[in-house]
Amino acid sequence: MLMQNLNGKNVLLGVCGSIAAYKSAELIRLLQEQGARVRVVMTASAQEFITPLTLQTLSKHPVRTDLMDPVAEATMGHIELARWADLVLVAPATQEFMAKLVHGRAADLLSAICSVADVPMMLAPAMNHSMWMNAATQENRQQLIKRGIYFVGPDVGEQACGEHGPGRLVDLESLVAAAAKLYENDLLAGISVIVSAGPTREAIDPVRYLSNRSSGKMAYAIAEAAQEAGAKVTLVSGPVALPTPSKVERIDVISAEQMLGAITSLLAQSDIFVSAAAVADYRPVKFVNQKIKKDKRTQSLELERTPDILKTVREQSEDLFIVGFAAETENLEIYAKQKLASKGMNMIAANLVGEQQGFEQDDNALELFWPKNKDQDNMIIQHKSLEMRPKPKLARQLIAFIAERYYAKTTS
Ligand code: PMT
Repeated sequence: MLMQNLNGKNVLLGVCGSIAAYKSAELIRLLQEQGARVRVVMTASAQEFITPLTLQTLSKHPVRTDLMDPVAEATMGHIELARWADLVLVAPATQEFMAKLVHGRAADLLSAICSVADVPMMLAPAMNHSMWMNAATQENRQQLIKRGIYFVGPDVGEQACGEHGPGRLVDLESLVAAAAKLYENDLLAGISVIVSAGPTREAIDPVRYLSNRSSGKMAYAIAEAAQEAGAKVTLVSGPVALPTPSKVERIDVISAEQMLGAITSLLAQSDIFVSAAAVADYRPVKFVNQKIKKDKRTQSLELERTPDILKTVREQSEDLFIVGFAAETENLEIYAKQKLASKGMNMIAANLVGEQQGFEQDDNALELFWPKNKDQDNMIIQHKSLEMRPKPKLARQLIAFIAERYYAKTTS
């Protein structure tokens, strides 16, 4: 069954040395069926039960086994893998691996990655029932749960050693369902969110337009994160080459004028507006009906301002929680604070853009600013940094923070 929540997620599958390691081959397939991208790291003892070649063939990526691999570690491969992952799933997890995690050991690749990763981590233990019931193992389990690590299983039943009890790797469908559930939260349950996305195009003649380099990646990740948080999400999108996130409604527009029209038509039933679109600031004063000929040596184009969507939305909806963006090549903080104050936003997410930054990239970083008080002339501004990371992860952090500020405002 397709659950969608793992769709597009990067799952780092850690495989430890248990007879259940042979099931990781099937697990990779099930995760991929859910749309997840899977990379595998095996411990030394896992390789005694199943070969890296098998898991490489199924995951379609080289399997990492060694922390001291000179090729992979030339680019700090263990850090890269930890940053790449949206989820670290260790299945099967052994008694030994749990003990290492408790003590923060990092001498092997999988443990080192776990000590770096700041994403959800889930363990599916598999071991003999006496090893599982051993006091040290149970204490370690409690410790790890306290640190926010999720456990799924083990199941009770017939074991490979012929004994009976708790210690079997949980059935794989339940394991995948438990992993998918991690991406459901109710931070924005019952809330309607508009996200504007992508560039706009302002037509010059039937074949030319003014636009910018926005790919829509940041905004689409925000829409997906809001949907995962339980919101009803409408994406108002300029032209981009991205699939619509599941369970998100999408309205396609071309120009700033159309984007404004689509957004204002949604205001009456919306609670939050995230303006992540790179709306063109200027458009040609006149649309030329036929293709402009290149018969002159120079050509000039008269431009006028496009409608200011954020300002218009604020004028029409006093209560809407508005999160604007600021895309700057310099003076990020100064310009972001100016925009926050002048456009009546509740929060602004500022990012640096330029060559290899912000636009079109897979990773981004945001500086968030929001007013502490309502006095426009004497505004006290608060600040939080969201570090450089893949846009989907950044979007989840942004949505969690927007939810926090939204409830702080509506309950104050
Ligand atoms: O799409 P990607 O390739 O992933 O790149 C992401 C991004 C860099 C486009 C995104 O993170 C971002 O910064 N989006 C906002 C870009 C922008 O237009 O910034 P700005 O500083 O020019 O505009 C400030 C705010 O006013 C923005 O919220 C913008 O949506 C809004 N605006 C702008 C012009 C206009 N006429 N009306 C508006 O409401």
